[in-house]
Amino acid sequence: METVIKQQRIPTNWDEREILREKGQFWTPSWVAEAMLAYVCENTDLIFDPATGNGAFFEALLKLNKSHISFYGTDIDNRVLENDIYKHKSCTVENRDFLKNTPQRKFKSIVANPPYIRHHRIDEETKQLLKKISTNITGFAIDGRSGYHIYFFLQALRLLEKDGKLAFIMPADTCEGTFANKLWKWISENFCIEAVLTFDEAATPFPNVDTNALVFLIKNSNPQKKFYWVKANQAYSNDLFTFISSNFSKQKYETIEIKHRQLKEGILTGFSRPEQNHNGFNYHLNDFARVMRGIATGANDFFFMTAEQVKERGIPDECIKRAIGRTKDISEEILTDSDIEKLDQRKRPTYMLAINGHNKFPKEINDYLKIGVEMGLPDRSLIKQRKPWYKMEKREIPPILFAYLGRRNTRFIKNEAGVLPLTCFLCVYPFATDTEYINRLMQALNHQDTLENLKLVGKSYGSGAIKVEPRNLGKLPIPDHIVEQYGLKAGRLIFIEKIS
Ligand SMILES: C[S@@+](CC[C@H](N)C(=O)[O-])C[C@H]1O[C@@H](n2cnc3c(N)ncnc32)[C@H](O)[C@@H]1O
Repeated sequence: METVIKQQRIPTNWDEREILREKGQFWTPSWVAEAMLAYVCENTDLIFDPATGNGAFFEALLKLNKSHISFYGTDIDNRVLENDIYKHKSCTVENRDFLKNTPQRKFKSIVANPPYIRHHRIDEETKQLLKKISTNITGFAIDGRSGYHIYFFLQALRLLEKDGKLAFIMPADTCEGTFANKLWKWISENFCIEAVLTFDEAATPFPNVDTNALVFLIKNSNPQKKFYWVKANQAYSNDLFTFISSNFSKQKYETIEIKHRQLKEGILTGFSRPEQNHNGFNYHLNDFARVMRGIATGANDFFFMTAEQVKERGIPDECIKRAIGRTKDISEEILTDSDIEKLDQRKRPTYMLAINGHNKFPKEINDYLKIGVEMGLPDRSLIKQRKPWYKMEKREIPPILFAYLGRRNTRFIKNEAGVLPLTCFLCVYPFATDTEYINRLMQALNHQDTLENLKLVGKSYGSGAIKVEPRNLGKLPIPDHIVEQYGLKAGRLIFIEKIS
């Protein structure tokens, strides 16, 4: 099959980018669209795409030369529907909202790259409608933090005829979010999940977009216990297409890895992640340390300041604490006093207003708090919950910091500077506090074999970035050989030693 490389231009201009985000317009590249089409184009004379955009899937259909198959698409954006490709006789497109005005019929073949619109961009009225849709289909309400694509997915599953096939490309949060387990349990009990396609960083379908995409190939037939898990390692290769066209029968390819996995394991691990034997790890970070998120000030522009601002505002020493607020501000595995000094020189903020427990403030603080009131801070959502509004969260200084979003290898940072981290870091408190233990734990955590396991507990984004929530970081598996190599003792042993 001839390959034409056509990549979406990501706008650099803010307005254009906003339109892209509001409507969730990210176009599927041809090599992925063709592979998805290969799945849905058997035994059908019509393919339905509920979010047709510029016509990536119709283009793929034309390329596959299946002239007996017609195409029906819906989209809410007239600009994309005016695309010349839709003048073709075998295609019908409509300006129609797939969720608010869903077609009243079922389909044998559905293919989509649904809009990726995150929940905070969805208005309250629409949220209520989405809740109703998901409850009607599944019998339970989906977590309110799930994006638009989840509802497209459920609505499309509802419209799938018996023995019909569906191919959806969606971000990894579909199977990594808090709601994922319940959602996939329901899907796996009602449909046959035939295959999940994942993409190596080098083969991401949406370069320059912070999304780790997956393709789900699902049939409306009896559920099976196993599914094919595929990892594509090279973009614009024909292997994915050939594997799917062969009805998953050929097993050796140069650019894709194929595993036949247990469905139960896949759901438990999360489909975006490689196979994991859930009994395989004896140790987790929780055995050696406690994890908490960094401090959420609620308004860094007010509470977090540079040395110059502290001086200008006359804030006394006892009302501030040294803090770090941006992962980019740390470049090494150890954060030292001199690094903090250098940040000061570069005019980066390193001081956090910390006025808990002061009954009477000096005039400078009272004046500064008045500015906060004028800025409307006491009414801001997070700040509103504090009494009084300026009372800062309390944290012990963590000996180890964890940069919770990023693609770099130095994720665990030794906090020799003794600073308090803000929310872009997690605090790691080892159960033993002597320097030797902390050093050994640091080496174990920053070992490549441990860092590799972040994938198992984190949410993945584009080009290798992983985000790990505090509760999940505690579940980070530390391989046995690493625990042995660094002679780490688990918390329970430290406790027994202390009392004996
Ligand atoms: C991610 S793009 C995918 C377009 C195309 N199928 C592709 O893969 O290149 C999603 C499309 O959904 C459209 N869209 C957004 N909300 C929609 C809705 N409620 N109903 C139908 N289409 C919608 C957007 O305008 C956008 O064109």
